[in-house]
Amino acid sequence: MGVQISPSLLSSDFVNLESELARIADADWAHVDVMDNHFVPNLTLGLPVVERIVAVSPVPVDCHLMIDGPDRWAPGYAEAGARNVTFHAEAADAPVRLAREVRRLGARAGLALRPATPVEPFVDLLPEVDMILVMTVEPGFGGQEFLDVCLPKVRRARQAISASGLDVWVQVDGGVSAETIERCAEAGADVFVAGSAVYGAEDASKQIANLRSLAEGATHAPGV
Ligand code: DX5
Ligand code: ZN
Repeated sequence: MGVQISPSLLSSDFVNLESELARIADADWAHVDVMDNHFVPNLTLGLPVVERIVAVSPVPVDCHLMIDGPDRWAPGYAEAGARNVTFHAEAADAPVRLAREVRRLGARAGLALRPATPVEPFVDLLPEVDMILVMTVEPGFGGQEFLDVCLPKVRRARQAISASGLDVWVQVDGGVSAETIERCAEAGADVFVAGSAVYGAEDASKQIANLRSLAEGATHAPGV
């Protein structure tokens, strides 16, 4: 699939979501952060807003659920038309059952890991998911500083996926910018969430192209 850019709406103007979505029409995805003020200390938006985002977005919706009880709530986001639904490993009671349900409803299933959550316990679950999200900040807020300490996990996730022969994507989220995206790509990430870097830019399209070309330049050829 190659490099994919998923700008996060968290840094957009929430009162003008339709025009903010139009600014990222050159991206591969629109990343939507759902926060419940329990799993993370912040509250954003929920299903009714995501339904409207899906209806007007020029690109597929990549839902990142930072919520407790994803076993109960995540399927609704797949039903609402999100093309990808990512839930947190730390919050899911039955990640395999949940990933199967999300896929059955027609969405890709993503499994997210907070900075302190290792990837190793989930390696046997790789056939059940379409993407591993390695958080590169503590989830909850945009505009935080990138955590380099998470890069070895990106590398280990990519190695485990390569060894498995599966087509599972590795997404990074948090502090991804023109300064940090090459390190992520070099470590093996292929889907890049960027909130403040895209929405804080004067020209979002130009920044998406810039991030894409930096990531492509730093991506290893397959198998290298
Ligand atoms: C943070 C969210 C991110 C956030 C990233 O918990 O999951 O998607 O929007 O924002 P930046 O790119 O500004 O770090
Ligand atoms: Zn996110």
